[in-house]
Amino acid sequence: MQFFSGRFKEKASNLILDFHSSIDFDKRLYRYDIMGSIAHVRGLALKSIVPSSDAELIEKTLKEILNDIIGEKILFSREYEDIHMNIEKILIDRIGDAGKKLHTGRSRNDQVALDMKLFTKDEAVKVQAQLLDMIDLLNETAKKNLDTYMPGFTHLQKAQPITFAHYLLAYVEMFRRDFLRIENAIKLMDTSPLGSAALAGTTYPIDREYTSKILGFSSPTWNSLDGVSDRDYLIELINSFSLIMVHLSRFCEEIIIYTSNDYGYIELSDKFSTGSSIMPQKKNPDAAELIRGKSGRVFGDLLGLLTTMKGIPLAYNKDMQEDKEAFFDALDTVKGCLLVFYGMIETMSIKRETMLEAAARGFMGATDVADYLTKKGMSFRDAYKIVGEMVSFCIDNNYTLDNMPIEQYKKFSSSFSDDIYAEIAIETSVERRESYGGPSQRSVKQHIDFIDKFIKEYSSVIEKYKLNDIL
Ligand code: ARG
Repeated sequence: MQFFSGRFKEKASNLILDFHSSIDFDKRLYRYDIMGSIAHVRGLALKSIVPSSDAELIEKTLKEILNDIIGEKILFSREYEDIHMNIEKILIDRIGDAGKKLHTGRSRNDQVALDMKLFTKDEAVKVQAQLLDMIDLLNETAKKNLDTYMPGFTHLQKAQPITFAHYLLAYVEMFRRDFLRIENAIKLMDTSPLGSAALAGTTYPIDREYTSKILGFSSPTWNSLDGVSDRDYLIELINSFSLIMVHLSRFCEEIIIYTSNDYGYIELSDKFSTGSSIMPQKKNPDAAELIRGKSGRVFGDLLGLLTTMKGIPLAYNKDMQEDKEAFFDALDTVKGCLLVFYGMIETMSIKRETMLEAAARGFMGATDVADYLTKKGMSFRDAYKIVGEMVSFCIDNNYTLDNMPIEQYKKFSSSFSDDIYAEIAIETSVERRESYGGPSQRSVKQHIDFIDKFIKEYSSVIEKYKLNDIL
């Protein structure tokens, strides 16, 4: 069967068939294509546009084709360009004239727009579920590390002490925003383009509300031109995936630093590390590096699709076929990275003692010493200067702020007394920081409770946007 027979006298060259063909990558839409066709044909029967007996035969045969695709009994062909025409061709081969009625009042333009939306809705909630698992893992790990003290950094220089729980919860917030960004994108894209046809709707009395409803969308799209040419949601989601990759990549960068010989705050499990082919002592954080590296692909996918879309006149143009590889690549990359990252975090060991030792070195009590003087009546700026001189003295004379004798303290200011040592103890320094969002156990516990509630509230995410399974 030739789809474009009639208008064309010559067969398309093999070169152009290969160039146009998207079947090699859009075959993964088969389930959604069949779902959309069944909704469409049910709609046609509802309005008596095709006889019910034909519609039933089409639906039954499409379901058989679905099983045959799953059972790998079907070979797709480049000659039929894409998944839509391949499936239609198989349908017509199986049931003849009845099969030829499926495409009434429909175009591949609304068909592909629908398939992509169904696929995307289905997959986006899977990414959300992965994010929720990640948030849960980090929150649970935080619960066990409320008093695991470690240095906090700015400029990668030791700054002020925090806890490992407080550190992990910073990433919980990033992943929570990623989750909500996807939530917004799904809500915004939840409209059915089916019935937009090629660009200008159709003269058949179709019921777009009906098909939209049985496919689980909140409503049909309002404008048929926009219905077939909107790819905003793909860009929005790749943008959300890009931010997930930014967060994973920053986290990975820290894992790489924290597992390095000179830090040793964390040790990755053997299962998630690799060795060197020549240096027997090596244990490398390759997975973290690869995730950091793969972020570049996802950003590339985003920029690629933005560029593809920016100059396309309304409505459908073939340029849009380029949406698929970009979206599939970004989706597969982010899902794969989330999976590996989860395993890496779940199995790593946290070196409490090393973190504590690191927190004890590096003059991180300096701000507390300055605050101590300020509370005794000195202006903060004067106190800051004195403590700067004290740190310089300690460096020259091999002291830390904890072991410099009190007589020496007094030489810098008569306001110092023995209670200074308790004041600059790491634990005091952290636990005094009770401000909202700060590292004290009290503040962190409040955050943890909030996250527990968040997880509960959204754990039914997969159910919420479930496609109506008409298959
Ligand atoms: N394979 C095409 C795509 O992915 C399907 C739509 C084709 N429509 C057309 N008018 N050529 O965009």
